[in-house]
Amino acid sequence: MNKSGIDHVRLVEVGPRDGLQNEPEKTTVAFRVELVDRLSACGLKTIEVGSFVSPKWVPKMANTAEVLNSVGRYEDVSLVALVPNIRGMIDAIASNVDEVAIFSAASETFSQRNTNCSIEQSFERFQPVLEKAREIGVPVRGYVSCVLGCPYEGKISASQVVPIVNRLIESGCYEVSLGDTIGVGTVNSTRELLRAVEGAIGLESIAVHFHDTYGQALPNIVTALEQGVSTVDSSIGGLGGCPYARGASGNVATEDVVYMLDGMGVESGVNLNDLLKVSEFVFSHLKRPPTSRVANALLNASVH
Ligand code: HMG
Ligand code: MG
Repeated sequence: MNKSGIDHVRLVEVGPRDGLQNEPEKTTVAFRVELVDRLSACGLKTIEVGSFVSPKWVPKMANTAEVLNSVGRYEDVSLVALVPNIRGMIDAIASNVDEVAIFSAASETFSQRNTNCSIEQSFERFQPVLEKAREIGVPVRGYVSCVLGCPYEGKISASQVVPIVNRLIESGCYEVSLGDTIGVGTVNSTRELLRAVEGAIGLESIAVHFHDTYGQALPNIVTALEQGVSTVDSSIGGLGGCPYARGASGNVATEDVVYMLDGMGVESGVNLNDLLKVSEFVFSHLKRPPTSRVANALLNASVH
C-alpha cells in the first residue's frame, strides 16, 4: 500500500470514443478497430469503443456498429458503448457490447447543447435503456458532465452534482464517472466535490474523468486517489475533447497516468511500453504528435 492508500487502479480507456469523437483528422473503421485491438493487448480491461448517437451530431462516431462487429473479443476486456436513448441501446445490443454508458450533466445548458434535452428529460430517456439493461443483464455506467465547471454556465457547485450522481446510482448504474469536461478543476475544487459525494453516496462506485485543458488532470487524479477513488478514465496519447465544449482539450493521457501510477507503486495492470507503441501507431495515423508528455519524452528518447 502506498501513501495514497490505494494499491490498484482500474483504468477506463476512453480514447476510441471520447478521443476520436472530436478528432479533426479522417479516421476509418479499420483504424478504429486496430486501435481497440492494440489497446486490449496493453492490459486495459475496460475500453470505450464508440457511441450510438446521432451521426449528424457526432459524425466521427458513425460506424461504431461496424467497429464493434470487427474488434477482437477477450473474456477479461469489457467493450463499452455510449448510448443516449433506447434507439442507441438497441443498436448497441445488436453489436454485442459488454457494457453501455449513459450520460447526463450537472449543467442544464450543457445538457441542452449536448443532448438537446433538459437533465430531467435525459433521465426520462434513460428509463427504457436501464430497463432493457436489467432485462438482459448488461452493466450500465453513468457519466455526469461539467462537475467542476461548465463552458456555458461557469462554476458548478457540488450541490448540483450530488443529486445527479445519486439518481444514476439509484437507477442502477454500477459506477458513475465524474466528468471535468472542460478541465477547469483544481486540487481544491476536486477535493471539495469528492468530499461532498463521499458524504452523500460514498466513493466505492465513483470514477473520475479529467480533461487536461489547464494541465491539472494529474494532480486532480492524485487528489481523487487520496480521497479513495480507484477508477480513472484516460485516453491514449491524450486524444479528445468534446464537440459541445469549445476549447476543451483532450482527456488526461493514459501513458501519463500509467507512468505516474508506476512511480507511485500503484498497480494498473497496463504495460507502459506497449502503450507507447499504440501511441506511435495512433499519432503516425493522425499525422501529429501525441499530447501525452510521457509519450513525447519516451518516444523522442528512443529516437536518439
Ligand atoms: P434529438 O435531436 O433531440 O433527438 O437528439 P431526436 O429523437 O429528435 O432525433 C434527431 C435525429 O437523430 C433523428 O434523425 C433520429 O433518428 C436520430 P433524423 O430524423 O434527423 O435523420 N437519432 C439517432 N441516430 C442514431 N443513434 C441514436 C439516435 N437517436 C436519435 N441513438 C440525441 C438527441 C441525444 C440523439 C442527439 O442530441 C445526439 O446524438 N447528441 C450527441 C451527444 C454526444 O454524443 N455527445 C458527446 C458525448 S458526451 C461527452 O463527450 C462527455 C463525456 O466524455 C464526459 C465528460 O467529459 O464530461 C461522456
Ligand atoms: Mg469526456
